[in-house]
Amino acid sequence: MNAHLYPFTDPIEARATPPKQMVSGDGAYVTDTLGNTYLDAVSGLWCASLGFNPERLQKAATDQMGKLGYYHSFMGRTGEVTNHLAERLVEKLPDGIDHVFFGTSGSEAVENAIKFARYFQIGRGKSTKARIIARDGAYHGSGSISAALTGMSYCHDGFDVPLSEVIRTGRAHHFADAHQGESETDFANRRVQELEELIIAQDPDTICAFIGEPLMGSGGVFIPPEGYWQGVQQVLRKYDILLIADEIITGFGRTGQWFGSQTFGIKPDLMTMAKQLTGAMFPLSAVGMSAQIYDGLSEHAHRLGTFGHGVTYGGHPVGAAIALETLKIYEEMDLPVHIAALGAHLRKALEPLQDMAGVGNIRSIGFVAGIEFTKNGAPDDATARAVGEEAERRGVLFRIINNTLAISPPYICTTHDIDKMVQVMRDSIAQTHS
Ligand SMILES: Cc1ncc(COP(=O)(O)O)c(C=O)c1O
Repeated sequence: MNAHLYPFTDPIEARATPPKQMVSGDGAYVTDTLGNTYLDAVSGLWCASLGFNPERLQKAATDQMGKLGYYHSFMGRTGEVTNHLAERLVEKLPDGIDHVFFGTSGSEAVENAIKFARYFQIGRGKSTKARIIARDGAYHGSGSISAALTGMSYCHDGFDVPLSEVIRTGRAHHFADAHQGESETDFANRRVQELEELIIAQDPDTICAFIGEPLMGSGGVFIPPEGYWQGVQQVLRKYDILLIADEIITGFGRTGQWFGSQTFGIKPDLMTMAKQLTGAMFPLSAVGMSAQIYDGLSEHAHRLGTFGHGVTYGGHPVGAAIALETLKIYEEMDLPVHIAALGAHLRKALEPLQDMAGVGNIRSIGFVAGIEFTKNGAPDDATARAVGEEAERRGVLFRIINNTLAISPPYICTTHDIDKMVQVMRDSIAQTHS
């Protein structure tokens, strides 16, 4: 039974050890075909913000399917509900992001944002500004340019992704990358200075945009030090380089504010969203853009006769209806207040783990956290894996990322659920070191 080629999995190993097959969800819990139930502490892939079977989203989907189950947005037609979502979404987006373009997946949103940034540059007569700066350890997706932008070699190995279009710079992870005794501020300043030197060396006239996750998720939950984003933005402005905020994990509350850009004081030209936009109940993504980008694209497209870009399922009415209901639920939750309460509980519960053997660093912001394992000061991937696997045997799913375990739970978790995931983490660390 090898019908299914699984993503991010060794296919030959999967023949011997097939993946767990999940069959049902109940809030933050999922159950597999063997009847084992797990608390999913990462909301699947940082996305099922309202749990795995949210009733209101189910109703929104079935109501919309009963009314208009599909429509596109091409050539003078669109779904009413899709237009409605665009208007509601723009109201929630950070100041300065006034327009949206809909797609299906996060990878597609990144592909779109890069295409739009280049289209904008060409439209204003700067066609040499074509390359994109991205960071080590970033995850931007599995498309073509989005995989090339991803700063993880296993996303490039064996594929012919367009790496020559990407310029790589350092990640903002003080704990692992600071020099001996370097303060967070000095580290942030160094990263900014490195960026400026890189831009000068590579020629600013060849650089279109910088893409960055406000907080790096899949790389290992790296929270940028204060001053980092302010410095980066100053440099980008100086050299006329666009800023794309990849908000696919950080969008919709995860870092404490509605968007990571607000948490970290980022004013992007373009931003990508997906995952929690629909609570993961439908594949829908969006690119948000400033009026300047929108106007530039519009004029360029008008000269050419059309904006020659779009996909069949972009802004799907069922996804739009689910997203509208999701936004409503977030508003009823009073999202930043709700996240502050959950995040404070998680942070406090995790604090005592800092003193456990093997734990190098615990970091959290909003309702996302990373527990990094070290041995004699060096990254300890083996312990992170052992702890993650032990936790799974004990019924809690964390995300194992090299030497870090990530936590990014559904927003419907109770304090009891949070205590349970931290207790299992603690017991698994103790067991691994016994
Ligand atoms: C920051 C970021 N960008 C892009 C993506 C790609 O999204 P998708 O898997 O929906 O294509 C992800 C997925 O985890 C992500 O975390």
